[in-house]
Amino acid sequence: MGNNAPILITGAAKRIGLFCAKKLHQQYPVIITYRTETPAIDTLRSAGIICLHADFSSQSGIQNFITQLKETTTSLRAVIHNASSWLSEDTVEDPAALMQSMLQVHVHAPYQINLACADMLIAEQPAQCDIIHITDYMTEAGSPSHIAYAASKAALENMAMSFAKKMAPQVKVNAIAPSLILFDEHASTAYQEKTLKKSVFGLEPGEVEIEQAIQFILKSKYMTGRVLRLEGGRHLPGER
Ligand SMILES: NC(=O)c1ccc[n+]([C@@H]2O[C@H](COP(=O)([O-])OP(=O)(O)OC[C@H]3O[C@@H](n4cnc5c(N)ncnc54)[C@H](OP(=O)(O)O)[C@@H]3O)[C@@H](O)[C@H]2O)c1
Repeated sequence: MGNNAPILITGAAKRIGLFCAKKLHQQYPVIITYRTETPAIDTLRSAGIICLHADFSSQSGIQNFITQLKETTTSLRAVIHNASSWLSEDTVEDPAALMQSMLQVHVHAPYQINLACADMLIAEQPAQCDIIHITDYMTEAGSPSHIAYAASKAALENMAMSFAKKMAPQVKVNAIAPSLILFDEHASTAYQEKTLKKSVFGLEPGEVEIEQAIQFILKSKYMTGRVLRLEGGRHLPGER
């Protein structure tokens, strides 16, 4: 496939993943995964983006996806682990099941997909290849309302370092750790006001912030095993 190897983005039928898939498709072939059918899928397929169904909530779901991917392509330019579930201990009855589901989507799936994709990425040599883990601001800060989510995203961030060592120099592996990028459509006004006050900029930057970070990583020839923190100065101490 030469330089035309596709970029795989997981969980990209809506929101940030969808935006990034469309933008990246202006320069690269793109494969996305989706769990739920959305109106966007038909549009993406018409535009030439390959859409593969994947549900990472079980081992068989992860394995089925890897089989489908190997039937779809023999090489990859990049893998972007975007699929995510932002569930809170405050809204579930079974914390053990919550932790298991967070580990499935944020740890088991990326771990197995990276191992399974290694040959497909290395098949691109001498072209440059990447793996990008989309994590979260909470990996450093923790979260009392999203304990399992934060812990599983911290594991995802840590895996970026291990895979960076394992796959160098053929593949760069980095993470992007955002705080607020895009409010959930159900976010209340009170929640939005409270969240906006947490960063020094006090704004919702939108999906483009992630897309630009991805573009930077794809172009870099020197950064691996690092975390790009897009948090609007939220980490800075002091009164706000
Ligand atoms: N939005 C923000 O402000 C923000 C802040 C910090 C970090 N991030 C990170 O940035 C990334 C994109 O954020 P987002 O808000 O656009 O994400 P999102 O809408 O919460 O979820 C992205 C996709 O992941 C899929 N997904 C969830 N569980 C899955 C599973 N078990 N198997 C397969 N797919 C699954 C979802 O599919 P379904 O629709 O079918 O459930 C969804 O389309 C995520 O990694 C997120 O953690 C976002």
